[in-house]
Amino acid sequence: MCGIVGYIGSRQAAPIILDGLSKLEYRGYDSAGMAVFDGEHIQIRKAVGRLKVLENLTHGGETMKGYMGIGHTRWATHGAPNNMNSHPHLNTAQTIAVVHNGIIENYIPLKKKLMDKGYQFVSETDTEVLAHLLDYYYKDNPLEAITKVLHRVEGSYALGILFADHPEEIYAVRKDSPLIAGVSAEGCFIASDVPAILKYTRTVYYVDNQEVVKLGKDGMKFYSVDEEEITKEAVRIDWDADAAEKAGYEHFMLKEMYEQPKTVTDTISPRIRDDKIVIEELKMTDEELAAVKKLHIVACGSAYHAGVTGKYVIEGLARVPVEVDVASEFRYRNPILEEDSLVIVISQSGETADTLAAMRESQARGFKVLGIVNVVGSSIAREADACLYTWAGPEIAVATTKAYSAQLAALYLLAIKLGVVRKTIHEENASELIRDLRRLPDQIELLLGQKGKIQRFANRYVGAKDIFFIGRGIDYAISLEGSLKLKEISYVHSEAYAAGELKHGTISLIEEGTLVVAVSTQPKLYQKMISNIVEVKARGAFVMAVTNEENKAMEKASDYCVYLPETNPYFANSLAIIPLQLFGYYVAVGKGCDVDKPRNLAKSVTVE
Ligand code: G6P
Repeated sequence: MCGIVGYIGSRQAAPIILDGLSKLEYRGYDSAGMAVFDGEHIQIRKAVGRLKVLENLTHGGETMKGYMGIGHTRWATHGAPNNMNSHPHLNTAQTIAVVHNGIIENYIPLKKKLMDKGYQFVSETDTEVLAHLLDYYYKDNPLEAITKVLHRVEGSYALGILFADHPEEIYAVRKDSPLIAGVSAEGCFIASDVPAILKYTRTVYYVDNQEVVKLGKDGMKFYSVDEEEITKEAVRIDWDADAAEKAGYEHFMLKEMYEQPKTVTDTISPRIRDDKIVIEELKMTDEELAAVKKLHIVACGSAYHAGVTGKYVIEGLARVPVEVDVASEFRYRNPILEEDSLVIVISQSGETADTLAAMRESQARGFKVLGIVNVVGSSIAREADACLYTWAGPEIAVATTKAYSAQLAALYLLAIKLGVVRKTIHEENASELIRDLRRLPDQIELLLGQKGKIQRFANRYVGAKDIFFIGRGIDYAISLEGSLKLKEISYVHSEAYAAGELKHGTISLIEEGTLVVAVSTQPKLYQKMISNIVEVKARGAFVMAVTNEENKAMEKASDYCVYLPETNPYFANSLAIIPLQLFGYYVAVGKGCDVDKPRNLAKSVTVE
């Protein structure tokens, strides 16, 4: 969702900006643009579509000479993806250029005021307001103009700004949208995310809300909105740029699916000591944890689905009530948070606007928030009262796989820990659960080994119109995620239903040959699921079952069976998701879809 890169230094800026933007492609975008100062003027190039188009237009950046510039990949919100609406945006004199990630919420009244003062707008964007507003306040002092603008705008933003008559400086600022700054011997950088500049530097500053950065060739300075200089500590990034490359896999999604055994290991191992769950990051004593009366899990997309699984597991093991909400609903429904409630927000990126807002809303009401987050140093990770990292590493494919699996693992740890401190799990049960948790990575590996079989099956469904996923209890939670994986990357319409609910309407959509994926991992519900399978088969459905090896009756009841290795039923989702991910992936590959960058979707949704 919009990416920003900026560079000032001793090298040509445009190729560095293009390279950086290519590392942000995962965020999702539909057009791109750059502004480079050529010594006299700000040059602008924009292109609709893939970054490749902008690369070709500028011959890899060679036709834009200059040592300072800013670039942007745009995911359209205000106005269609076209050259007028693409960033950078300029003031009328073309002496100030702005790139922006986020949304200026009060842009309409600001635009009106500026128009009344004679400013002419050429785009439909909210961002253009910033270029003209900067122009309005600019009297030779960029910092002063920027801080004045910040006092006027509402909403979220990460901005990169050039002033033609300050050719030795780039400015950047953020509020609620991600932004980092980096420094090397060859110059300074800004970017929406670390991978964009990792090739050039490992010394990075996380820009905080409403901090302004002035970047020069030889270093940078930070200022508050009151124009006071502030001191910041650099962070050394020790993970590798290679971790973000495809490593020989056809798609990042496939690579990331294959990283799941490691991801689960990395998430659980550091938190198991002497056969006990130790989660230091919780920053809560066992007594405080035991006193928690209710959990609210809040998240979006797949992270929400992980939360739905979490509800079943935590309620089952720790007998503490859990409410799960989609963040965009939670933040506006005036939720009732009772005393001794703990809010858990789950997010891969740590930047999802609705999740971030839900977290802040909870904190404003005086509740502690635990973040389960993947991206180190992200907004949620920093602002949450406690942060449990899912150590999945950079996830590039828009459709999440390994981060989701890590989220499940983190929730299992929490469920066991809660169960132990609340004494709903005895010590020996906890040991058994921990043993099963430790076996998950190998079992996931085993299931990934079945990819050929799933691919052959998926190839039969590349022409499918609708595919349904059904399950009960925990298997309903995994059906939600399986269905989302399929639809987001293959564009096949799909729905997930609690199996018992299907006959209240949706069963009318089942036709001869419709594929129904039935997940059945919970022994106490085997028989109920078979009844539901019989119902859909009677209407012509073809049933693929995902079930445990011991569930022999399923062989007869379904048309095609995928068996899962034995684990504790509470952890079955971690195994059931593997064939479902592979199925969605191969349907999409079979259809020739852009698997890693599905249409209309963004990896990190930083607008509401
Ligand atoms: C987007 C992504 C999903 C992700 C969701 C929540 O829709 O495409 O894969 O689950 O955002 O993102 P988060 O970063 O908060 O987990």
